[in-house]
Amino acid sequence: MSLTLRSGCKVNLLLNILGKRPDGFHELETVLHPIGLHDELSFSAADRGVQFTCSDPTLPADGSNLVVKAANGFFARWSGPGARIHLHKRIPAAAGLGGGSGNAATTLLGLNKFFGRPLTDLALVEIAAGLGSDVPFFLQGKPALGLGRGEQVTVLDPFPCLSKVWIVLLRPNFGVSTPWAYQELARYPVALKGRPGRASELIETLRSGDLPRACSLLYNSLEAPVLARYPLLEVFQEFFRRHHALGSLMSGSGSTTFALFDGEAAAQRAVAAIPTEFGDTNWIAAVPLMAS
Ligand code: C5P
Repeated sequence: MSLTLRSGCKVNLLLNILGKRPDGFHELETVLHPIGLHDELSFSAADRGVQFTCSDPTLPADGSNLVVKAANGFFARWSGPGARIHLHKRIPAAAGLGGGSGNAATTLLGLNKFFGRPLTDLALVEIAAGLGSDVPFFLQGKPALGLGRGEQVTVLDPFPCLSKVWIVLLRPNFGVSTPWAYQELARYPVALKGRPGRASELIETLRSGDLPRACSLLYNSLEAPVLARYPLLEVFQEFFRRHHALGSLMSGSGSTTFALFDGEAAAQRAVAAIPTEFGDTNWIAAVPLMAS
């Protein structure tokens, strides 16, 4: 018997950093939106231990992989038999899309389902928060406000004004290290100490249905260090605006740029123009924002 689950990704419509904390993390407010692009995780029983395989040979398959960390966290709380886990990877890594965090959360959900729910939802949230700031978000996979270091998740109702919006994702052929991006913030005092309240402003505006104004409120503090180091990402945003995007922003710590479009036709016109402008070594995806 085996169980296969989809493991999604996200963009940050807003990532407003408020300051550095004594524990080294950064206090922030973020608006996370799930994206309907998926990896696949399969679970089956093993006599003991965690046996992990991955379709992407460039990713570590040892204890440093978040899937293995999540499975070890699960079996530390519940001493059942072992599990064989296979990850079929489609979402790029080091992309600011939370693919690895999604894999960790899906591992917790998958093992708990596979073994007949030995752990409570609260236990899963606790394990998730210890694995990474974005992991608790992926346990529920709905639009959410993230506070603290991102792990304090409040689920938001879907925003009807986004129902016809398409999102285009463009990841260059390099990734960005998240710890590096956060460390660099020390050199950008304005970005390091964002004005609190941007998240509620965006959420209220999305609720009001004023999509153009909401798109003007998209914000990411990490753009300050990352765009300075990788100017191509700024060029991506200019390209999308020239191609009639409603808004464009870097997701998470990069390197993915996303752009929102009024419908599929506008999104596909921009996608069709990418190879001419930027060659064919980039990862591109275009999906309805509210598909999951
Ligand atoms: O929590 P996660 O493992 O995703 O964080 C990766 C790194 O990003 C952390 O080690 C830390 O350097 C940085 N980070 C941070 N503040 C946050 C989230 C992440 O400084 N709120």
